[in-house]
Amino acid sequence: MKLPKVFGTGNRITLSTGKTKRVVMLNNAATTPPFESTLQAVEKYLKMYGALHRGAGPHANETYKKAHEAIDTIKEFLHIRKDQTLLFTQNTSAAINMFIRMLRLTKNDTIITSQIEHTSNNLPWLFNSRARVVQVHAFDDGSLDYNDFDKKMKEHAKTVKLVAITGASNLSGYIPDVRRIAKAAHARGAMLFVDAAQLAPHRPINMKRDGIDALAFSAHKVYAPFGLGVLALPHSVLETQPVDPGGGSIDMISETDVVWAPALHRHQTGTWNVTGIIATGESCKAILNTGWKAMLAHEKELVKYAAEQLATVPGLILYVSPEKFVKENRIGTFTFNLPQYHHALLSAILDQEYGIETRAGTICNHRLVRRWMKVGDREQKIIEGKIKNGNRLASYGIVRASLGIQNTKKDIDALVTALKSIVKNGNKLQYKPVPTEEIYEIV
Ligand SMILES: Cc1ncc(COP(=O)(O)O)c(C=O)c1O
Repeated sequence: MKLPKVFGTGNRITLSTGKTKRVVMLNNAATTPPFESTLQAVEKYLKMYGALHRGAGPHANETYKKAHEAIDTIKEFLHIRKDQTLLFTQNTSAAINMFIRMLRLTKNDTIITSQIEHTSNNLPWLFNSRARVVQVHAFDDGSLDYNDFDKKMKEHAKTVKLVAITGASNLSGYIPDVRRIAKAAHARGAMLFVDAAQLAPHRPINMKRDGIDALAFSAHKVYAPFGLGVLALPHSVLETQPVDPGGGSIDMISETDVVWAPALHRHQTGTWNVTGIIATGESCKAILNTGWKAMLAHEKELVKYAAEQLATVPGLILYVSPEKFVKENRIGTFTFNLPQYHHALLSAILDQEYGIETRAGTICNHRLVRRWMKVGDREQKIIEGKIKNGNRLASYGIVRASLGIQNTKKDIDALVTALKSIVKNGNKLQYKPVPTEEIYEIV
């Protein structure tokens, strides 16, 4: 099975302990390095880098050709419908904020979303729209409560304009049944938006088949870290005044009139991130050429192995039971704690003493983490007070190890061996808290 090669895999570093180790990349849900083929394609293209839509000449011509080829590949990757198109932003968060502002919902409209959302698929609806936001209940394992979803859809049948749901959770690895949700949304005349930041690197996306009206994902999570966010959306949403007008938005303006540029151009304000587009197209191409069958086979085996192995670490608290990862269709994001360690300290030990990359904190999904920690309202208020006073380490949190296509069983073994060693022998180095940065560093 030939999988795309990830640049930087196998990097070695000298740890603070003095040992030299291979870096174990287990923070892929946060960001991924480029595929080697993506990096090569970008380097090749940059020799002919030129002005897209802003000039003529050999560099501009080549740039135009390459950008449009890449856009076509990204469309193919998403299987978009004919009535849909792409806009480019800087990441998923920016794409979602842009999308909600474009919808111009009113206080009489309802957005149905859920308790499992990343803050990027929650705060924009709350703070960048006037619509009422309704949150569907989730269970402790991070799965959606479909009874509650149906109930809320019924309750808000007359006003629901948008259902906004994650494609895959950055915390629990849970994958909602998007097709089911699409059917319910469309039955009420609402649009379905999918936050595909975590879905895109892990599962094939078919907007046409699954009834996804709009979707966002980030290039830096699909092995193309060149600062691009992709927003796929219906053409109909573009037939409005741009929310961020600027360079490229108009064809003509006078004191009495404005002739907006064609719909796609008027919203794509300023100079496009062509390098990002080309890189993203290349990564999408690499995945499509490899084939999802091979990608999924590798991931499934690894997720199962990680779940089984992590379950052998004495005392390790796993917030989603390993069986869920083995039996259900989840992506490999494993959340855990060791009771004797602050989550940020455990993450620092894995980093400094073992060269293992993880992420610690509430990882933009504080609602479920709070529930896992059983933090009541009173305790929450105390914690918030401390955080407001600059002690960001006062927050509850977890450590997350997240898998990417470059990971192997060796990486899982390294994590499990490290955790077992920490349980048995404790930390070898001394650490001090840095509350303003929400980290621990070596003394
Ligand atoms: C599910 C989910 N949605 C949205 C985002 C935000 O992505 P970005 O940081 O690229 O804006 C993330 C990032 O981790 C995520 O995991």
